[in-house]
Amino acid sequence: MNRFKSIFVAVALSAASLAPALAAETHGPVPARLNWSFAGPFGTFDRGQIQRGFRVYREVCAACHSLSLLSFRNLGEPGGPEFSEGQVKALAADYKIKDFDDKGEPVEREGRPADRFPKLFANAEAAAATHGAAPPDLSVIAKARSYSRGFPLFLLDALPGMAYQEHGVDYIVALLNGYTKADDPNWNEYYPGHAIKMGKPLSDGQVDYTDGSPKTVAQYSRDVSAFLMWAAEPHLEQRKRTGLNVMIFLIVFAGLLYFTKKRIWADAH
Ligand code: HEC
Repeated sequence: MNRFKSIFVAVALSAASLAPALAAETHGPVPARLNWSFAGPFGTFDRGQIQRGFRVYREVCAACHSLSLLSFRNLGEPGGPEFSEGQVKALAADYKIKDFDDKGEPVEREGRPADRFPKLFANAEAAAATHGAAPPDLSVIAKARSYSRGFPLFLLDALPGMAYQEHGVDYIVALLNGYTKADDPNWNEYYPGHAIKMGKPLSDGQVDYTDGSPKTVAQYSRDVSAFLMWAAEPHLEQRKRTGLNVMIFLIVFAGLLYFTKKRIWADAH
């Protein structure tokens, strides 16, 4: 029996030490975990951060990436960047939206808050023809790019209360900072396979911040990733608050049940 036990332990240990190496080979290095204000059961977005992140998206990423699941009015809703009504209207009006007039003829008109961010290309082929590869729509990218830390760490990540949901944003930050070969603008340390068609999109000083935050790639990449997390889950704050209320309710309810049970069974001996 003991022999089986030691064989089992040996196999488990070697699997544990091998797995991260294997994962690194197929997916590139595992991105560093960052501290995010929206992580954990009490998480909320840092309003200033996602406002700056939107600015980075608009001034840099929007040249190639659409955000077509998002409406302009979402930017003014509670739990998001919370831009004012006037700001949202002015922003929407900056975009040209394809629509039909009352005779059914195609027209282009100014955007309104209820419109979605327009698509940039007719389809992926047209996008690829322009950029070498189709730049993915960024609406849900922060949720779509997850990764596993491999056995046994992924077991930890799945524990209730510890469940880690920030893989996607960590990856985007790592990707935007992953252009580490000065002589090759399409080499990225964190992109699977390392050859990416997106040239290094950010450089220091590129976007003007008015709140005194550093105008660096490190800061831009965090801000835009936080903004993309919000875009992928606009009701994150509400969801976390509801979850917390449910937990509090369950604890109080369990207490009530306990005392009720005591009371009912008090005379039954
Ligand atoms: C000049 C065009 C261009 C700009 C500007 C640009 N990208 Fe990209 N991006 C691309 C292309 C093209 C791809 C697809 C790359 C590929 O498939 O090799 C891409 C891919 C991506 C991906 C997906 C990577 C993956 O794992 O598949 C993310 C995330 C991304 N871009 C984020 C951003 C962010 C954030 C910005 C703004 C800071 C930005 N991009 C600016 C062209 C651009």
